[in-house]
Amino acid sequence: MMNVLLIHLLLLALINVTQAWSPTGSYAPGKVQCPSNHDLLREGDSISSEEKDWVKARHEKTDKALIEYLNSSNLTDFDAKKFIRNATRSPNIALAFSGGGYRAMLSGAGQFAALDNRTVGVDETNGLGGIFQSSTYLAGLLGGGWLVGSLAMQDFPSVDEIVLENPNDLWNLTETKQIITKVSVIRNLVPALWGNIQNFFKAVNGYNGKNGIGQELQEKEDAGFNTTITDIWGRALARQLLPKGKDNYMNASTWSDIRNNTGFKNHNYPFPMVTALVRFSKSKAYNSSLPVVEFNPFEIGSFDYSLNSFFDTQYLGTEVNNGKPVKNSTCVKGFDNASFILGTTSSLFNDFLNSLVCDDCHSVNFFLKMILRRVLTKLSNAYYDIAVFKPNPFYKSRYAKNEEIVNNSTLYLIDGGLADESLPLSNLMTKERKLDAVFALDNSENWPNGKSIIKTYERQFLDEDDKTVCPYVPGESSFQHFNLTAKPTFFGCDAKNMTDLAKDGVVPPIVIYLANRPFEFWSNTSLLGLKYSDPQKKAMIRNGIDVTSRLNHTLDSEWQACVGCALIRREQERQGIKQSEQCERCFADYCWDGSTFEVEGDYFPNVNFTKTGLTNDSMHLWDTKPGTSTNVSSISVLSYLGFKKRQLFDLFS
Ligand SMILES: *[C@@H]1O[C@H](CO)[C@@H](O)[C@H](O)[C@H]1NC(C)=O
Ligand SMILES: *[C@@H]1O[C@H](CO)[C@@H](O)[C@H](O)[C@H]1NC(C)=O
Ligand SMILES: *[C@@H]1O[C@H](CO)[C@@H](O)[C@H](O)[C@H]1NC(C)=O
Ligand SMILES: *[C@@H]1O[C@H](CO)[C@@H](O)[C@H](O)[C@H]1NC(C)=O
Ligand SMILES: *[C@@H]1O[C@H](CO)[C@@H](O)[C@H](O)[C@H]1NC(C)=O
Ligand SMILES: *[C@@H]1O[C@H](CO)[C@@H](O)[C@H](O)[C@H]1NC(C)=O
Ligand SMILES: *[C@@H]1O[C@H](CO)[C@@H](O)[C@H](O)[C@H]1NC(C)=O
Ligand SMILES: *[C@@H]1O[C@H](CO)[C@@H](O)[C@H](O)[C@H]1NC(C)=O
Ligand SMILES: *[C@@H]1O[C@H](CO)[C@@H](O)[C@H](O)[C@H]1NC(C)=O
Ligand SMILES: *[C@@H]1O[C@H](CO)[C@@H](O)[C@H](O)[C@H]1NC(C)=O
Ligand SMILES: *[C@@H]1O[C@H](CO)[C@@H](O)[C@H](O)[C@H]1NC(C)=O
Ligand SMILES: *[C@@H]1O[C@H](CO)[C@@H](O)[C@H](O)[C@H]1NC(C)=O
Repeated sequence: MMNVLLIHLLLLALINVTQAWSPTGSYAPGKVQCPSNHDLLREGDSISSEEKDWVKARHEKTDKALIEYLNSSNLTDFDAKKFIRNATRSPNIALAFSGGGYRAMLSGAGQFAALDNRTVGVDETNGLGGIFQSSTYLAGLLGGGWLVGSLAMQDFPSVDEIVLENPNDLWNLTETKQIITKVSVIRNLVPALWGNIQNFFKAVNGYNGKNGIGQELQEKEDAGFNTTITDIWGRALARQLLPKGKDNYMNASTWSDIRNNTGFKNHNYPFPMVTALVRFSKSKAYNSSLPVVEFNPFEIGSFDYSLNSFFDTQYLGTEVNNGKPVKNSTCVKGFDNASFILGTTSSLFNDFLNSLVCDDCHSVNFFLKMILRRVLTKLSNAYYDIAVFKPNPFYKSRYAKNEEIVNNSTLYLIDGGLADESLPLSNLMTKERKLDAVFALDNSENWPNGKSIIKTYERQFLDEDDKTVCPYVPGESSFQHFNLTAKPTFFGCDAKNMTDLAKDGVVPPIVIYLANRPFEFWSNTSLLGLKYSDPQKKAMIRNGIDVTSRLNHTLDSEWQACVGCALIRREQERQGIKQSEQCERCFADYCWDGSTFEVEGDYFPNVNFTKTGLTNDSMHLWDTKPGTSTNVSSISVLSYLGFKKRQLFDLFS
């Protein structure tokens, strides 16, 4: 039964990916008739009417799924059906996946799997399966964006399908599949330094030959659009994240094509989005005052003060003035190529290259480092290290406040994580989306220390960010001192305590914070690591499941119920309903109580983990699966990944 269902879903996904195209049927954008009487721009003072309608329909599904989740988690003194039916509005739950390269993509995939009731084993073993089904929004940036994008473009297969059945060889990060290898870099250094800098890109896996990345870029250039390293990076990522199919790794598929996916049209999955930042001056200072741009299936844009505009995603590439097409009947489609968007949320290519020349690594010798540095400088000076959106969709936008952005014919976007806000929270937690609860799945930093959510918290007080609502969080040293990264922590448990943070009457949501930490695997792999063997990849995912399921619920048999308590909290508060004794107990366990332990500077007193905390004692990894694997061919991440305790792999030697 289960197999049939999965195969069915898979077939749907395959059918969907071949439906929509750039008008050229290739990586190049193409010309189309403009929509009649259509202003492509709107003010960033609300969510779009399309999103509103979509969310309304989605709520019919999430309400049902949430009732199922709450029923299966055995909340005491609680009638889920009655509660949701009588709610003032449907609860808005969101999932936010942080950046952190492949580490974040893989740990995030494990966290995702544990929240998805289709992951075999997760619901029966008291996972948090059903939360994904109960969620309205889903956001990612960088590695988290790759996860969200890879799934969304395929109409949301389960992680089981991708990792275990893997008919399309996706997420294969083994040596020969790497985007770039040291050997290929070295081979192409000299021609790049003394010849055309573009020669260097021949080092990228899949660049050369027919249907190679080089040809794809040429097609875009020939159509009159600039390409940069982000295009190459995006197309290289496509070769790992998207199925090869007949259409060469979905080379004509666009982000707005998500609208046409069956699952999206039927509101079966949360509303997906990825984020990036606007760089509006040549200075390389990245800070929280850069506007956050989101790409959702309907729009690209920002709620932030300086941009305050949204543009119809499918018409990106159209030359506009204040949202009106300049050539009044000719518009462009296909510019919002899916892999280009995934490259944009992670324009980290130079950093990956830089990691080969880091001062303290011995990966290449001194002479090569010197040459590589010069090539990188050359690339950077040629403006190749940034995503170029030309024409600028916000050109002369009447809603934007920043002259530099609106008067430039090009919009420059950079990696969403560069201002240290590695979780895509500021846009997600905008008052316009009225979230009740958000899962902050933090795989940024090798072992996260709260920095990312602290940035979101601080950002809400800037003039730039006049719409985000984020609960109180303590500083990094408190995260360390109180073990807030070693076990799940809820922030913003009491709405009454946050009236000062509310904007237009919208109180911050409860944040369910889950940070990467080791259980079965040392999952603090390098941000810039490109290589994972198949067992390493699965172990990363497995560890993500452990983090989310609290080691298969061995650490707290009420964990599922406690998450339920958090999900219903805001609605209870709206109705003035008192918490059950069980939920009070949960909140005493999981809520940050407001205590702080602030010290100046870096504070890393403890480097090792216990099951629930940080310690300076020695540590070992835990094994959740005492060898009861039944059927190896059964589609279960849980059973399939039940390896014995793993040693620390030397992943990137
Ligand atoms: C998962 O949840 C959805 C929504 O509640 C439900 O329709 C579906 O049957 C569930 N799937 C499994 C495998 O439990
Ligand atoms: C809920 O209760 C049922 C019946 O008592 C039990 O089988 C199940 O394991 C419980 N689930 C949780 C999450 O405690
Ligand atoms: C339904 O909600 C209203 C307020 O929204 C509340 O007064 C009433 O007690 C609720 N009824 C139930 C059965 O929960
Ligand atoms: C990944 O790709 C390599 C090289 O093509 C192949 O040998 C290997 O079987 C693939 N791994 C998986 C898990 O499919
Ligand atoms: C973009 O393309 C134009 C025309 O082809 C060219 O003059 C310009 O230098 C290009 N800009 C970049 C940043 O490559
Ligand atoms: C979605 O499908 C419709 C009808 O097939 C088509 O007209 C439209 O262009 C598609 N939209 C996108 C964004 O692909
Ligand atoms: C557009 O921005 C780029 C990068 O900051 C800058 O070099 C260029 O001069 C700007 N162009 C205009 C017209 O302001
Ligand atoms: C564009 O608009 C102008 C003025 O509104 C009109 O004169 C012209 O015919 C239009 N061009 C096309 C190609 O529709
Ligand atoms: C309660 O509010 C105060 C500010 O009024 C804040 O400092 C404190 O951290 C909050 N406590 C919690 C648990 O959020
Ligand atoms: C943090 O965890 C350690 C190790 O489990 C424990 O000894 C310590 O008491 C915990 N600290 C707090 C504030 O709970
Ligand atoms: C952490 O645990 C490892 C492995 O048991 C041990 O070798 C190391 O000394 C511990 N680190 C610290 C700082 O105690
Ligand atoms: C998780 O726990 C359940 C029992 O609650 C057990 O049946 C299952 O095998 C465990 N799964 C793993 C992967 O350890």
